Amino acid sequence: MSSENPSSNHTAPTATTLIHRPRRLRRTATLRRMVQETTLTVDDLIYPMFVMEGEEQKMEISSMPGCYRYTLDLLLEEIAEVWRLGVGGVALFPVIPEVKKDDVGSESYNPEGLVQRTVKAIKEAVPGILVITDIALDPFTTHGHDGIVDENGVILNDPTVEVLVKMALSQAAAGSDMVAPSDMMDGRVGAIRKALDSEGYIDVRILAYSAKYASAYYGPFRDALDSAPKFGDKKTYQMDGANAREAIKEVALDIAEGADIVMVKPALAYLDIIRQVKDYTQLPVAAYNVSGEYAMIKAAAQMGWIDEKRVILETLTSMKRAGADLILTYFAKEVALILVNRRAFLF
Ligand code: PBG
Repeated sequence: MSSENPSSNHTAPTATTLIHRPRRLRRTATLRRMVQETTLTVDDLIYPMFVMEGEEQKMEISSMPGCYRYTLDLLLEEIAEVWRLGVGGVALFPVIPEVKKDDVGSESYNPEGLVQRTVKAIKEAVPGILVITDIALDPFTTHGHDGIVDENGVILNDPTVEVLVKMALSQAAAGSDMVAPSDMMDGRVGAIRKALDSEGYIDVRILAYSAKYASAYYGPFRDALDSAPKFGDKKTYQMDGANAREAIKEVALDIAEGADIVMVKPALAYLDIIRQVKDYTQLPVAAYNVSGEYAMIKAAAQMGWIDEKRVILETLTSMKRAGADLILTYFAKEVALILVNRRAFLF
């Protein structure tokens, strides 16, 4: 595009003391594209998806318009489609029927459980796509906490880690490419790595939710899974949103314990943490653009208050600019559709 304005600049010889004019590099779209520092691509995106029991059904999540709980058959179709669009990975979250939940989340390591069956089916139908499975007990427990709870309501660390290890092994046996502990128990990354290795799953990767904050932005996700805690909150295991140094401590521990990728979650209110983690480690850094961040953009767009596509791209680009190599986002399919046939996006 040769869209420089001919009426300005090179005609008027008016003297000036301005040596630097940063606007020179902003004058054409071509130049702006050349000097763009951060580029969002579909390669960066992982699509979190919800799977439920049954056949031929998809149910929209009311607080997450455009996101569905799919039965396995429809999930496979959707996964085949996003794979064609270039999305390289999916992160699975199961909707567990109330009757299968118990106090200790035993359904989580059922070899014939929903997640395990889903992983097998995806690896048969779309073998190339990276399948990431979540490790935490909340979808499987009657009380909705990520761990085992004692009679005083205390979340027990080490007994929970024992269950998480069983869960990881059963997911690996089903063919999971990467396990993602999102529970925030101490020592779980090391325990899972050790167990995977001793059972021969040396190539199953660990995406550690290292700096996961006790955030109000998870509300819509808990609607999707019907997994809101029945009592109390998650502040004794998830981090305090006011803390940054502690994020580095958690990241350091997960790296020492064998994490392949570390994650910051949520993303938008924690861009400074993403940057600090990026500066701290050579490992790839993931950011989770969580359900509440998605819901806010969708709601404002539905009201006609923002330009949805531009806000999505601007928001995800901010996460990359902050230092995220990978972004888990419910916008993955939409972004893939926007970016198809575009070499670069300038919003
Ligand atoms: C639970 C889990 C949560 C999310 C991912 N795994 C919710 C929570 O910790 O309560 C939130 C994801 C989102 O909000 O998009 N282990």
